[in-house]
Amino acid sequence: MTQQGFTLWLTGLSGAGKTTVAVALENELHERGLFIERLDGDTVREGLTRDLGFSKEDRDKNIERVCFVAKLLSRNKVGVVASFISPYREARNNVRQQTTNFIEVFVNAPLEVCASRDVKGLYAKAFAGQIQGFTGVNDPYEAPENPEITLHTDKETLEQSVNIIISYLEQHNLIPALEVEAAS
Ligand code: ADX
Repeated sequence: MTQQGFTLWLTGLSGAGKTTVAVALENELHERGLFIERLDGDTVREGLTRDLGFSKEDRDKNIERVCFVAKLLSRNKVGVVASFISPYREARNNVRQQTTNFIEVFVNAPLEVCASRDVKGLYAKAFAGQIQGFTGVNDPYEAPENPEITLHTDKETLEQSVNIIISYLEQHNLIPALEVEAAS
C-alpha cells in the first residue's frame, strides 16, 4: 500500500509534550520515506499567524488558518502532524470536518506536571499574574471527549507515545506497516 493523507492533531496544555512527540514522530515517519509536514503552534505563530494573540477569537483564527493548510495537504496524500494547544472543542471539531483522515490525539499530562516542567518559564509568569489568559491557569482548556488516541506523557516514555501513534496509523492503513524481515 501507499501512504494516505491524514491530519494527526495533537492537542493539550502547554508543556504537555505535543512538540516533543510531534518531532520524534516526524523523524520516524521520514525515516520510512513518507511525505510528512509538521505544523507547530510556536513556529506557525512566527509566520502565518504572527498577527494573532491568545483571545478566543484569535485562537479560533489561528486554528482556522492551520486547518486550511492541513486540508490542502491531507487531501493530497501528505501526512500532517499538527501540534497546537487548540483549547476549544468546536474549533477542533471544525478541523475534523474539513480535513482528510482526521485523528485527534489528546496529549494528556496533568496541569501540575506541565507547570513543574515549565520548559518556557511561562507557567511561573502566569501563576504570578504576569500573563493573562494563559491556558490551564486563567484561560479554558476543553479536553477532547472522544479522541482517537490519548497519550499520558507523564507515564509513558517518548518512544512508547510515538509507538502508540505509529501503531494506530498502521492499523488504520494510513501508512504501510514495516515488513518484518524473515529470519534466514
Ligand atoms: S492555540 O491556543 O492558538 O492553539 P498555540 O498552540 O498556537 O495556541 O500556541 C501556544 C504557545 O504559545 C504556547 O506553547 C506558549 O509557548 C505560547 N503562549 C504565549 N501566551 C500564551 C497564552 N496566553 N496561552 C497559551 N499559550 C501561550
